[in-house]
Amino acid sequence: MSETGITESGLPFEPLYGPEALEGFDPEAQLGKPGEFPFTRGVYSSMYTGRPWTMRQYAGFGTAKESNERYRQLVANGTGGLSVAFDLPTQMGHDSDSAIAHGEVGKVGVAIDSIDDMRVLFDGLPLDQVSTSMTINAPAALLLLMYQLVAEENGVPGDKITGTIQNDVLKEYIARGTYIYPPAHSLRLITDIFAYCKAEVPRWNTISISGYHMAEAGASPAQEVAFTLADGIEYVRAAIKAGLDVDEFAARLSFFFVSRTTILEEVAKFRAARRIWAQVMRDEFGATNPKAQTLRFHTQTAGVQLTAQQPEVNLVRVAVQALAAVLGGTQSLHTNSYDEAIALPTDKSARLALRTQQVIAYETDVTKTVDPFAGSYAIEKLTDELEAEARKLMAQVEDLGGAVAAIEKGFQKNEIEKSAYRIAREIDGDERVVVGVNRFRLDEEEPYEPLRVDPAIEAQQAERLAALRAERDNDAVQKHLADLKAAAEGTDNVLHPMKEALRARATVGEVCNALREVWGVYVPPDAF
Ligand code: 3HC
Repeated sequence: MSETGITESGLPFEPLYGPEALEGFDPEAQLGKPGEFPFTRGVYSSMYTGRPWTMRQYAGFGTAKESNERYRQLVANGTGGLSVAFDLPTQMGHDSDSAIAHGEVGKVGVAIDSIDDMRVLFDGLPLDQVSTSMTINAPAALLLLMYQLVAEENGVPGDKITGTIQNDVLKEYIARGTYIYPPAHSLRLITDIFAYCKAEVPRWNTISISGYHMAEAGASPAQEVAFTLADGIEYVRAAIKAGLDVDEFAARLSFFFVSRTTILEEVAKFRAARRIWAQVMRDEFGATNPKAQTLRFHTQTAGVQLTAQQPEVNLVRVAVQALAAVLGGTQSLHTNSYDEAIALPTDKSARLALRTQQVIAYETDVTKTVDPFAGSYAIEKLTDELEAEARKLMAQVEDLGGAVAAIEKGFQKNEIEKSAYRIAREIDGDERVVVGVNRFRLDEEEPYEPLRVDPAIEAQQAERLAALRAERDNDAVQKHLADLKAAAEGTDNVLHPMKEALRARATVGEVCNALREVWGVYVPPDAF
């Protein structure tokens, strides 16, 4: 690390500790008050003095039954909201007994094939009290509808359930990769979800526009903000084009960022992101409803900064990263388990991750004020610098024709890969210290016993699917799938026939394949 300190974004910055850093700084104009435009200081006037952030631990593996047990434990340990991890076959819209699913069933998340599994997943959980986030993108509509159907079966109507679907397919084309349909059809499905939720599930956050995965792929803080907000602008344009009211649908957009160990830069990043988004929503889209101008976000601590070496050191990293998210004004937070660089979290490591948030919330005093860094020479200077750098990148995306056009030219992916390469070079060159990896190493690592997912669950899921297909009314399923295809070919909202197909126990694979038949699948530009 050089004397001046190189940040993640490669921004070499002078020590920002002198008053000269704030020359010409106008707190009123640039900061405003918490809960007021441009929301630099936070989206609510009282922030955590009104309500602490939601402790929302991402979890899910194996069968719906195993995941349900983990959720019950998390609720018993004091978590405020659920966050469902799905396995790759579910995320890609394939059934557990499909050939392509082999070896992945229940591995990185829970296997959900039909409404039967959804009932087991949420069995005994208070869906009228807890908000549930679901990390699902291309098949997001299906999981939302099955959640709504199961809640209704438990006496909780659509206008009472709260939660979020990630539903952000644009970032899947840039990073992460769980896309299915071409961009135009994905945007149509996403705006159908916006319209459906306004009418049927009004308290639901319809999308979680994510920078996390781009950051994990190597994006700098400025790239993370710029490419995420550029995706957000694309969604807003598509929704307005579909005839939706910006003051209504934009109030239910949400965001998702990473929080790294570089505390000052991350606090500045969150503040800059709120300020840019507020100005874009008011000045470009004419949003007048303050809720449509606010950037509410979830944060997850940086998975890529976890080390397999001396894994307990990750407890310290996660605590620092979580503190950065809280000082930056997050609405919801996931803290990684210290052993995640090695395997799925054990019950104990998952509990420790949650305890980390509880110590920050209930033992420190950072919740007793709003935006404690306001007016700090370093933070205000960094906020301005990150805002300027992010706006420059957003203008480049705009010059290429917007987020989708830039994706199809590979722009965001290339920029992130360049940043990832620079970070790797800095670590390899010992310029960027990773404790336990390139400095302060142990001669011999201590033994660690990871949690393993039982491979037999693939056979279990296949049996459940065979029984389901034998029991259900297959004529009804075929009729509803035909209605879904007809809607997909036309302009009717596809969620209505989709809901009836799922209610009749159509599987995730069958519904997604029906749309594959009509819309085709996306082929990335570099796949030639
Ligand atoms: N004053 C007044 N009201 C307040 C308040 C305050 N200080 N604080 C909160 N509230 C209100 C809010 O207005 C809201 O009311 P509403 O429901 O009527 O709108 C309610 O209290 C709940 O507050 P929030 O909405 O701020 O908090 P939530 O936790 O409910 O929602 C969110 C947070 C960011 C908006 C939401 O979208 C969310 O929970 N997102 C989570 C996304 C997530 O978990 N993603 C996981 C991704 S993991 C992944 O991608 C895979 C892996 O590979 C990384």
